Amino acid sequence: LAEWLSLMGAKVAGFSLPPETNPNLHTLLSTKMERSIVGDIRDFDVVSDVFDEVRPEVVLHLAAQPLVRQSYADPIETFSSNVMGTLHVIRAAQHTASVKAIVVATTDKVYENLEEGRPFNEDDKLGGHDPYSTSKACAELVASCFNKSYLSSKEGIALATARAGNVIGGGDWSVDRIVPDLVRAMEGGEAVSLRYPNAVRPWLHVLEPLGGYLMLAQHMIKGNQPAIESLNFAPDDHNVHTVADLVNAFSKVNDGKPDWRWPEGEHPKEASLLMLSAVRAKEMLGWHSHLNFDETVRWTAQWYKCFLQGQDMREQTREQIEQYMLILESGNSDGGGHAERGVSIA
Ligand SMILES: NC(=O)c1ccc[n+]([C@@H]2O[C@H](COP(=O)([O-])OP(=O)(O)OC[C@H]3O[C@@H](n4cnc5c(N)ncnc54)[C@H](O)[C@@H]3O)[C@@H](O)[C@H]2O)c1
Repeated sequence: LAEWLSLMGAKVAGFSLPPETNPNLHTLLSTKMERSIVGDIRDFDVVSDVFDEVRPEVVLHLAAQPLVRQSYADPIETFSSNVMGTLHVIRAAQHTASVKAIVVATTDKVYENLEEGRPFNEDDKLGGHDPYSTSKACAELVASCFNKSYLSSKEGIALATARAGNVIGGGDWSVDRIVPDLVRAMEGGEAVSLRYPNAVRPWLHVLEPLGGYLMLAQHMIKGNQPAIESLNFAPDDHNVHTVADLVNAFSKVNDGKPDWRWPEGEHPKEASLLMLSAVRAKEMLGWHSHLNFDETVRWTAQWYKCFLQGQDMREQTREQIEQYMLILESGNSDGGGHAERGVSIA
């Protein structure tokens, strides 16, 4: 997101904990930013000082403990970053006169999932099972509270939450995530263990929701009506595939590697079916996904292939962003017969 913004000429300031993995995208890209600050959103004074110093116009709040397994291992860290951290960011933004728009990234997992076989829409009931999902549902309540209690009466500041599907793309080395697990298995010449090969997920290439977040921020900053409080970002129904489909498509790009296995035993509970409706994002922003499932996986697999070949990953990443921007500009989509769109996020 920072690289994309910087490519478009935006002045970007970033704030996060130090990278946890090696390699990591932050170091690989070394994105040119006005400010790159290492800090913790759990510390309100630090967040507040950063807002005072940077005086941002648009706040894209993505910082979170985003891993489901880690949320079981350390629910306190997860809730404090995801709930109190979100509260700190919104509160600091509220008191910063320059701020016009705040996008809070939550997730598709914020809905109470009764696995009824239909996609969730934004009015569905919130509720999580695991600590990560619940913390993000709480972040939704924090955002909604601020919208109702403070911001709706204050001219010139808009806040919305963005709920994206299962995001994949280059540059992720987190533990217990399917694509980084595939890359590690490929490097080690091993088969990957799948906890839930038949779990259905709304896979999205990372550039798709990021484009959506920027369009959402643009909608808010222009004061476009109606105001948006929450939006889903998800692929079309026919782009919804299982974890095993993802692994098979990924291996196809890498000469059949890695293979997968399904280890027996207890695994933390995760929903087997998760689908999201992005009808509202289409109606209100003209947003829809552009890459079909095969392209989504191919762009991801190719990124890691280039990385493993030792290529310049800043250049590769910029190329993918530029290619995606061209798709957006042309309004072209082979993602399954979408209508033409003429919205530019630039
Ligand atoms: N990956 C997905 O499939 C997905 C889907 C929907 C929504 N999301 C949301 O998108 C956002 C980004 O997720 P990601 O997958 O890129 O995760 P990531 O782990 O790559 O990025 C999370 C970032 O948050 C920072 N962070 C975590 N705790 C922090 C703290 N206490 N203070 C400051 N910074 C902190 C980390 O340093 C890291 O830079 C998260 O809010 C996540 O919940 C992710």
